[in-house]
Amino acid sequence: MRARNHHRRHRPLLLAASRVAVGVALLSAAAAAPAAASPLGPGTELWITLGADAFDLLAGQADHQGLERLEEQDGVVLTQVRFGDLAGLSASLHESTGRCAGFLAHRTLAQARAALAVPRTRSSLAGGVSYSINQTEWVTSLEADLDKPSILATIDHLSTAYHNRYHAYSSGAEAAEWIRDLWRSYAETRPEVTVELVSHPGINQPSVVLTIPGSTFPDQHVVLGGHLDSVSPGTSNPNFLAPGADDNASGIAVLGEIARVVLAADFRPQRTVQIMGYAAEEIGLVGSQDIADGYEAAGRDVVAVLQFDMTDYFGSVEDMAFLSDYTNADLTAFLGQLVDTYQPVLAWTTSACGYGCSDHAAWHRAGYPASMSAEARFGQHNPAIHSTSDTLATLGHNVDHAFKFARLGLSFLIEIGNPERFLFRDGFETGSTEAWSQSVP
Ligand code: BES
Ligand code: ZN
Repeated sequence: MRARNHHRRHRPLLLAASRVAVGVALLSAAAAAPAAASPLGPGTELWITLGADAFDLLAGQADHQGLERLEEQDGVVLTQVRFGDLAGLSASLHESTGRCAGFLAHRTLAQARAALAVPRTRSSLAGGVSYSINQTEWVTSLEADLDKPSILATIDHLSTAYHNRYHAYSSGAEAAEWIRDLWRSYAETRPEVTVELVSHPGINQPSVVLTIPGSTFPDQHVVLGGHLDSVSPGTSNPNFLAPGADDNASGIAVLGEIARVVLAADFRPQRTVQIMGYAAEEIGLVGSQDIADGYEAAGRDVVAVLQFDMTDYFGSVEDMAFLSDYTNADLTAFLGQLVDTYQPVLAWTTSACGYGCSDHAAWHRAGYPASMSAEARFGQHNPAIHSTSDTLATLGHNVDHAFKFARLGLSFLIEIGNPERFLFRDGFETGSTEAWSQSVP
C-alpha cells in the first residue's frame, strides 16, 4: 500500500532507450503527465535509473566516464545526466549490449529515488489472492477452438495494411480502430461485452479495451494485454515502415484469438475479464501506464495481469520465457503451472530484460500482480524487431510459436477468470457458473 501511494506522488517519465525512440519518448511522456512538464534543453539535468550491469557497461566507456553511481538498490543504479546526453547514452547502451536496453528518466532526484524503491519483483499478491487450477474441463474443451489461420490473418493485416502503427500518425490510430472493429465482431452476439477505444492525454493513438463483465465477482479484474503500436528508425517521416509483425502484431493476434474463442463459446467468467491493446508502448509504456495508473487511482482490484509482447519467434531451446523482473513471482510461478498442466510437452524458463521493457512494468509499478510471457530468453529474441524486417516473412509465415501463447492465455483467462468451482443440485461438481454450464452440452 505504501509503495502504491508513494509511486503515485512521484510519477516517473518513462523513456525508451532504444535509439529509434528516445527523443520522442520524453516529450510524449511529458505530454501524458502535464503536471511534470517544463521546458527541457540540452543542459537540463535529469536523473536516470538503470540496471547495474548496463550502468557498468556505460561507465566503462570513454564517452561516459563522468557518470556517477549515486545510489544503488536491488541491482538498479541511480545516476545524473543532462537531457542532451540521453540520445548518446541510449545509442551506447544499444551498441554495447547488442539489444534494446532501457532506462527510466526522472526530472527530480525525489522521483528517481521513488523509482529505485519500487521492487523489481513482488511475491506477495495484492489482496491475498491465490491462484489454482480447477477448470480443466473448460480449458481443454475451448483449446480445441483456437485457430492458427485466424492468428496469421491478424498478423498479416497489421503488418502490411499500414506503413506503421506509430502513435503519432493517423495509421497508428487507424490500426487501433481496426482492432476495435475486429474485436467487436467477435462480441456481436454478446450485448454485455464492450469493446472501446481509450484515449490518452497528448497522444493520438488510443488503446483498445474489451470487457467481459464478471458474473460473480465483477469488481475483480483479470487483464490480458499487449501493445498495438510499432516502431523502427525514421519516425520523422509519417510513412516510415514499421511492420512490427512480431513486435507486437503477434501479441495482438494472440489476444484477439483468445477473445474470439471465449466469446463464441458464450463463456461467462466469474471475474471481469479485460483484453487490452495498449497504445504507444514503444515510446515509454504511455498507454498502459495511463490505464494502470488510472486503475490504481480509482482503487480498482486487479487480481492478475498477463502481457504478450513478441510471441512468434522461436529463439531459445525453451518454448517460453517468463520475465523475472518487474513481474510478480507468484503469478509467474502459476503461469509455469499452467504450461505444465495444459502444454506439458513445452519447456519454459525465466529470463530478465533488466529494465521495464514492456507494459507489464506499468502494472507492476502501479502495485498489481503482473507477468510477461516472452517468445525467447532476453537476448535470444527476434533480432529483426524495431526494423523494416519485422515481417511475417521473417517469421516464416508460420504461427506455431504464437499458438503456444494463445493456449497459455486461454488457460490463464479461464482459470483466473473462474476462481470457484460450483456444486450443483445433483451433487456433481462442474466447471463453472450455472449460466456457463448450460451452454455446454
Ligand atoms: N517488445 C519490446 C520489449 C522486448 C524486447 C521484450 C526484447 C523482450 C525482448 C518493447 O516493445 C520495447 O521495445 N520496449 C522498449 C522499452 C520501452 C520502455 C519503450 C525497449 O526494449 O527498448
Ligand atoms: Zn514490443
